[in-house]
Amino acid sequence: MKTITIAIDGPAGAGKSTIAKIVAQRLDIHYLDTGAMYRAVALKVLQEGLDPSNHEQVISILPSTHIGVTYQHKLQRVYLDGEDVTHLLRQPEVAKAASEIAVIPEVRIKLVELQRSIAQNYSVVVDGRDIGTFVLPNADKKFYLTATLEERAKRRWLEMREKGYNQSLEDVKKDLEARDRNDMNRAFAPLRKAEDAILIDTTGKSIEQVADEVCRYLTDISADGW
Ligand code: CDP
Ligand code: CDP
Repeated sequence: MKTITIAIDGPAGAGKSTIAKIVAQRLDIHYLDTGAMYRAVALKVLQEGLDPSNHEQVISILPSTHIGVTYQHKLQRVYLDGEDVTHLLRQPEVAKAASEIAVIPEVRIKLVELQRSIAQNYSVVVDGRDIGTFVLPNADKKFYLTATLEERAKRRWLEMREKGYNQSLEDVKKDLEARDRNDMNRAFAPLRKAEDAILIDTTGKSIEQVADEVCRYLTDISADGW
């Protein structure tokens, strides 16, 4: 049976993971959050007391770093060296470190290999920064979600507040801006829209509106293939 792959890229807070989850549910396929893998490597770097901006230090722990992904009721769990760390990955310091280690080609190559092998075995909606351009250039459908920095920062600020993190809106905005800059300017697999990706500006749109807009492009896809 042919597997389906749908790529969703874009900057932080554009709504990728929220929309990817809904689309995966509607198609009854898996959702692969690639950002969580970068966050897991970053968590290890922080746990080991290393500097995420020191490439040599980060590269030195890669051979002994084992990232794994499983699905429970189609929801992704991420394992770091055999331990389920899913609940630790959304901390602001982990996000910041993830964007620092994500510029290192050796890190990306290791994680991209895992992402491609999952997409070969399962039908998936994959969200990230380089999915349509680098990880799955032959994805069945590609989307690039974006929104103004102001709106993305507000969304992330609200989300973090709900989760109990006390960052100011201004700090959240600065963090997002810095991560966008890292993601767009790195030499290896930077964040950019694939030429054949459908661009959706989600500014001022509800989750439901964006999910419906994406799904309108997917009417020719079902869980059994095309
Ligand atoms: O994955 P990404 O960083 O692109 O964004 P997300 O984590 O899916 O969305 C960030 C926050 O914005 C979440 O709390 C979503 O519920 C919210 N959101 C929204 O308010 N309106 C949208 N159209 C999309 C997401
Ligand atoms: O949820 P949010 O969009 O804030 O971040 P994420 O998707 O969890 O990704 C965390 C960081 O990992 C991003 O800031 C990127 O630097 C990096 N990342 C990447 O470089 N390539 C991917 N395919 C996914 C994430």
